[in-house]
Amino acid sequence: MKKLNYLLGAYVIMSGFIACSHVVAPTQNKLPELPNARMALLADEKLSTLQAGHGVFARQCFQCHDQPDMDKYSDSEWSTIAPTMSKHAGISKKESEQVLAYLLARKRLEGH
Ligand code: HEC
Repeated sequence: MKKLNYLLGAYVIMSGFIACSHVVAPTQNKLPELPNARMALLADEKLSTLQAGHGVFARQCFQCHDQPDMDKYSDSEWSTIAPTMSKHAGISKKESEQVLAYLLARKRLEGH
């Protein structure tokens, strides 16, 4: 009986773990567009800045939530959200500016 309880306990712990890891794991696997020369031209930004911003976004911004609906926010909304979220993510001011540059540049592309 003791062994059964132990097994039952292990089962409960395991299923809890699986349930939690399911919640935390990113469910959206389609990353936002990679920066390209056209995006940089339309936004009047350096391609290297946008590439850095895309990298920071992909690495730092889906730790607490899934990828946000990128088209939902206006430029001015992103300008407030990005610094707030950068503080959450604990990234530098420079990285925060790169992320914002990428988020705004992406919106310059057709269809956004
Ligand atoms: C440490 C956890 C954490 C990290 C890291 C994080 N966020 Fe968030 N994010 C939150 C929480 C909590 C909310 C919901 C509450 C809020 O709006 O503050 C949120 C909400 C959002 C929203 C919705 C805001 C709204 O008003 O609709 C967007 C967009 C967003 N995050 C983008 C980002 C971006 C971009 C990054 C990377 C720079 C990021 N998040 C990193 C915790 C985080």
